[in-house]
Amino acid sequence: MIMDDTTIVPVPATAKADASCTAEQYRTAYARSLDESEAFWLSQAGRIDWMKKPTVAGNWKFAPKVDIKWFEDGQLNACWNCVDRHAIATPDRMAIISEPDDPDAAVRRIDYRTLKSDVARFANVLKEMGVSRGDRVTIYMPMIAEAVYAMLACARIGAVHSVVFGGFSPEALRGRIEGCDSRFVITADAGRRGGKSIALKANVDAALDGGPSADAVLVVRVTGEPVTMTPGRDRWYHEALESVDDDCPCAPMNAEDPLFILYTSGSTGKPKGVVHTTGGYMVWTASTFAHAFDYREDDLFFCTADVGWITGHSYVAYGPLANGATQLIFEGVPNHPDESRFWQIVEKHKVSILYTAPTAIRALMREGDAPVTKHDRSSLRILGTVGEPINPEAWRWYHRVVGDGQVPVVDTWWQTETGGIMLTTLPGAHDMKPGWAGLPMFGVKPLIVDNDGRPLDGEAEGNLCISESWPGQARSVYGDHARFHQTYFSTYEGLYFTGDGAKRDADGYYRITGRVDDVINVSGHRMGTAEVESALVLHGDVAEAAVVGYPHDIKGQGIYCYVTPNAGVAMTSELEAELRAHVRKEIGPVATPDHIHLTAALPKTRSGKIMRRILRKIAGGESDSLGDTSTLADPNVVDALIAGCKA
Ligand code: WT7
Repeated sequence: MIMDDTTIVPVPATAKADASCTAEQYRTAYARSLDESEAFWLSQAGRIDWMKKPTVAGNWKFAPKVDIKWFEDGQLNACWNCVDRHAIATPDRMAIISEPDDPDAAVRRIDYRTLKSDVARFANVLKEMGVSRGDRVTIYMPMIAEAVYAMLACARIGAVHSVVFGGFSPEALRGRIEGCDSRFVITADAGRRGGKSIALKANVDAALDGGPSADAVLVVRVTGEPVTMTPGRDRWYHEALESVDDDCPCAPMNAEDPLFILYTSGSTGKPKGVVHTTGGYMVWTASTFAHAFDYREDDLFFCTADVGWITGHSYVAYGPLANGATQLIFEGVPNHPDESRFWQIVEKHKVSILYTAPTAIRALMREGDAPVTKHDRSSLRILGTVGEPINPEAWRWYHRVVGDGQVPVVDTWWQTETGGIMLTTLPGAHDMKPGWAGLPMFGVKPLIVDNDGRPLDGEAEGNLCISESWPGQARSVYGDHARFHQTYFSTYEGLYFTGDGAKRDADGYYRITGRVDDVINVSGHRMGTAEVESALVLHGDVAEAAVVGYPHDIKGQGIYCYVTPNAGVAMTSELEAELRAHVRKEIGPVATPDHIHLTAALPKTRSGKIMRRILRKIAGGESDSLGDTSTLADPNVVDALIAGCKA
C-alpha cells in the first residue's frame, strides 16, 4: 500500500513531556542562529575545549571564490575533546562498548580512562612509524575499537586520516592512497563480518603492489589468520605497542587545519577527497549529536554505520565522544547469525538511541515482526535513520514495531560534504511526517531553487541548495579546490548545491526526493554512475556502457548497467557474470551490479549523446512513459531494450 506522505505522526506525549527542547525553543534558537550567527556560534563553540578560544565564528564566502573559515583564530585538538577531557572528568564512564560479529564472543568495554591510554599509545606508535603533523594516513579497518583509536590517534598528533571502507577493492584503495599521497596505511590482518573473513591485509598488499610506495603499514591482529609481512614496511600493532608508553601530548591545531579526508563519489570523474577541518567540524558534530538525538548522560548510543562512511566519522568517532557519551560499536551485520541481531543487541546492552539506515530497516521489515518483538526494546528512547530517503512504509514499521509507537523517529538528512546533520525533526519537539526529514538544524539555511536557480517560496519542489555556510561544511576537495568550486558552487551562483531534489510543505518540512545528478544511492552508499561505467569500459570486451539507478525494494536503488560489447563478442550470460565480477574487482563488493543488460546499441541523440533519461525509465519498469523520444537517432534501439529489460 502506498502511504499518504502528508500524514502527521504526533510526538508521543511522554516524549513531549520529557523533551529538552520544545518547538517554541527551537524556533527562537533557530532564528537566533541566523540573525545573530556570530554570537550563536561562539556560544556553541563552548561545547568544545579550546587551547586558544576563537574570537570570530564564520568568515566565509561562496562567490566569486569559495573560501570557508570558521573559528579561524582558535586552536584546539579533536582527540583531546573526544578523549582526554572525559578521561579527567569521567574516567570510569564507558566510552566504547564493542559488540563482536559472533554473538558468543567476548564484548569489549572501554572506559574513558582506558580509551585515553590506548589512544595515546596508538599515537606514539604512529610517531615511531614516522608519521608527523599534516601527513595523510590511510585507514582500512574492520569495525573494531582500533579503527576509532587509529582515527583519534591521527587527530592527536595532527595527522590527517583518510578512512577507506573495507568493502572497497585493492584498486579503489590504491586510487585513494595515491589521491592524497598517503605514505602510511593502518589495517588489520582480516575483518569479520557476518561469519565471513575479509582479507584486508592481502588487499592492502595488492593495492601497494607495483603502485604507490608506502613508508609503513601497521597491522592490527584481529582474526589471527596468516598474512604476508613485508620486512622494513609492515609491522604488527601488538608488537609496536611493546616499545611505547601512554604519554603523548595532544598537538595544538589551528581551527582550519585539516582533520580528515574522506573519498566520496560524484557525478563525474574519480571519487573526490572531501576535506574537513578541525574547529568547525568538532563544533558541528558535537552540537548536532546533542540536539538531534536529545543526548542525555545515561544514554547508550548505537550507530550502525561503518567508520568507512561519513556517518561513522561524525556519529561514531567524533560526535558521541565529543559529548563524553557511551556508545556501542558493532563489528557485524544486521542479519547474522539471524535477522534479530540488532534487537538482540538492543536488549543485551539496553541501547537507548539507535541510528541506522533505511536499507537495514527494509531488509529487517521483510522478516516480519517476530524477530523484533521477541526482544525487549524498552530501553529505546530515540530511533534515527540516515543515508537515503525512507519510504513511509518502512518509517511506520520502524516507529510502530521497533519503537512500539512510543519512540520519536528522527529522519536525518545530510551528506559527506555537510559534516553532520542538516535537516531533521527534534525528538519531543516536533511532530513527525513519515518520509519527511523535517526542519533545518540551527544555522542551516536551505533554499529550493528551480532549474534556472530562481528561489521558490513556500510550498515548493525543486533543487536543494544551502545559501549560507555552517561550521561543519567541507572546505575543499583534496588537492583540487577548483573542482570543489565547480562541483558544488557553480550550478547556482553563490549557493551550495547538494545534488538532491527536495519538496517543502506548508509547515516548512523538507522531503528529499533523491539525487538529481548522476549519482545513485545504493543501500545508503553513494555511487557515481560514471565510476561504474569507467570500470566497465576497462574490460577488453566492452565497447560502451551506461549505468543508471532503478528502484530496489531493499537497497533503495540498484545498479543497472547497459553494456555494448565489442563487435564479434557474444552476448552470453557468462559475459554478464564476468562483467559483474570485473566491477567488483575494480571498485569492490559495494559496487556489485544488480543487472548487466547486454545490448547491441544504446539510445542516442542524433549528436551521439546517450539518452540516460530513457535508460532510467526502462530500468525502472516505466517504459510506457518514456516521454519525448523524437530526438532519438534510431527509435528501434529502444524497443529492443524494452524487450530485454531485466529489472
Ligand atoms: C546523500 C549523501 C549522510 C550520511 C550518509 C550518506 C542521501 C542522506 C538522507 C535522508 C533522504 C538522504 C542524499 C544525500 N541522504 N540522508 N535522511 N533522506 N536522503 O552520506 O554518502 O554523502 O550521501 O544521501 O541523497 O545527498 P553520503
